[in-house]
Amino acid sequence: MRVRKVLRAIAPAILITLTLGIGWGLCAPIKCTDLPSRIIDPGLAGAVSAEMKPATAGVPEYCEVRGTIMPEIKFAVKLPTAWNGKFYMVGGGGFNGSISDGAMMPAVAGGYATAGTDSGHDGQKEPLAKFAYNPPDNSNPNALRKKLDFAYRSYYDTAILAKKIIRTYYGSDIRYAYWVGCSEGGREALLMAQRFPELFNGIIVGAPILNLTKAHMWSLWNPRALLGDGSIAVNQLPFLADAIYKKCDSIDGLVDGLIDDPRTCTFDPAKDLPKCDTASPTCFTAGQMEALKKIYDGVRTSRGELLFPGMPPGAEVLAPASGWDQWLIGNPSRQQAYGESSMQYLCLTPQPGPAWKWTDYNFDTYPARMADNSIIFDMTNPNLTPFKTRGGKIIHYHGWADTALTPLMSINYYEDVLKLLGDRETKSFYKLYLLPGIFHCGGGAGCYDRNDVNIWFDKLVDWVEKGVEPQAVVGSRKDASGKVTRTRPFCAYPLVDRYVGKGDINDAANFTCVKSIPAKVRIEPAMLGPGKKGQFTATMTLPKDHRVKVHDIKAVICEGALAKKGSVGAKGQNIVATFQTQDVLNVPAGAGVAFAVSAIAEIQGQKVSFEGFDTVKTTR
Ligand code: BEZ
Repeated sequence: MRVRKVLRAIAPAILITLTLGIGWGLCAPIKCTDLPSRIIDPGLAGAVSAEMKPATAGVPEYCEVRGTIMPEIKFAVKLPTAWNGKFYMVGGGGFNGSISDGAMMPAVAGGYATAGTDSGHDGQKEPLAKFAYNPPDNSNPNALRKKLDFAYRSYYDTAILAKKIIRTYYGSDIRYAYWVGCSEGGREALLMAQRFPELFNGIIVGAPILNLTKAHMWSLWNPRALLGDGSIAVNQLPFLADAIYKKCDSIDGLVDGLIDDPRTCTFDPAKDLPKCDTASPTCFTAGQMEALKKIYDGVRTSRGELLFPGMPPGAEVLAPASGWDQWLIGNPSRQQAYGESSMQYLCLTPQPGPAWKWTDYNFDTYPARMADNSIIFDMTNPNLTPFKTRGGKIIHYHGWADTALTPLMSINYYEDVLKLLGDRETKSFYKLYLLPGIFHCGGGAGCYDRNDVNIWFDKLVDWVEKGVEPQAVVGSRKDASGKVTRTRPFCAYPLVDRYVGKGDINDAANFTCVKSIPAKVRIEPAMLGPGKKGQFTATMTLPKDHRVKVHDIKAVICEGALAKKGSVGAKGQNIVATFQTQDVLNVPAGAGVAFAVSAIAEIQGQKVSFEGFDTVKTTR
């Protein structure tokens, strides 16, 4: 009697265990080649393959699973034998269309069970956004489904299936799940945070095309500006870059080939470039100046309403190729090709199809035609509360010299989150880093390469697993042989890095992250001979609501020179500092050279930099 009672009580548990054991539940680990017979999922289209891959140089032994989810979503899951208990999913790039196997391997090498997807179409057969088009001969009947798969469904389905596969293979649960992606993969990262907040504990968002529809509109604005009279030649880029850096490199207080925050750069092509009737590598026509102005300014309607932010100056630099050369210049340029395909097949209602041309986009009337598709593609929802509430963490980075996707798109989104959730709340789970001089996802004149993603990932893991909140993240620049030639801290937005006035400017240890507070600066005398012996004085006037005491001030720096003496006015609103002219680093000779002064202070435990600049004439 008692035995029957006990059996009745535990019967449901036995039933559940048996069912899960046969299907997806936790049980003993199984063999790689047995996995296909255990992967029973109504979403699958056809057979799943699983194959053991022996260890090779740098990559340990792993089991590779490949298959297709309805209708055409290809996925891969790689399961290292020496598993660290964690899941790592990689995002795609461009319009996807292939599995990022290469991006998965470093994670596999680190012991992560790793997954990726082609997002539902084959980019070789259907280049750019063509996968979303069903021609009149009905040769692509899954087109609409494939559009949704690219927008969001493929990543969700793959993540869910990969998690099931991982649990089945190892017979144990996943401790932590991470998403890592840049560009389109960065949009997918924000998709996870905004729409599927239960799936991942930590997310790396790299240079995301987060506002996909508007970003593609912007992709058309730039080549349109460069049409006809506006056309800029590649051989004009070095001179253009030089003019921009001469004007703006010193504004952050150090001439080092990096403009720390290009929003401070007031480069005006019409005023700051030499004009000529026939363009040459060293002069620009009125049409070219107009084109440059449009590109730096951003997308506007014919009434002048700003629809999308422009491209910050600074990416023209050759490092070794120019960011402009990569995305803006060419026939067709990559921006033109991406923008046209997106409008033909993804962003507009009704879908215009292949006859539509990139020059057909009307900046007054077409934005309204993108509203329907904005709902499925654009990851602009600032409400990240569900993700935060589950303990999720996000590290987001974007290069200041990104010519594929303006970094101002990332800043605008982060500002929206700050506005909605508040400063403290946002920074407790979400940090944005802007990378001076860095092109799309890496490269450029700064200190970050696209293979350096672990500088973010390591911080993310510490944040998620140990609660260690990331502060400055150190990036490095390497020469062709791989030798590190410069390191720099990346500071969490809105903080910026500032040289402390002592030590090698190529060593991150000599920089600090500060909150920049604008101040008025007057330099005397107004004519200086850097490199020559002499002195000059900077007088700073702080904003009305700020005061300092002498002991608050840690250093006052002007163009790499540390002040030799200084004083604070009686009311704490003025700082006067004296510098030696010979200590100033790298400033160019000429009129109107910006001399920036930064007074680094510590106030109530927070590092701030009161800063501004005056222009002087420099002689050699
Ligand atoms: C990318 O994934 O690299 C990308 C996607 C859309 C526009 C530009 C770049």
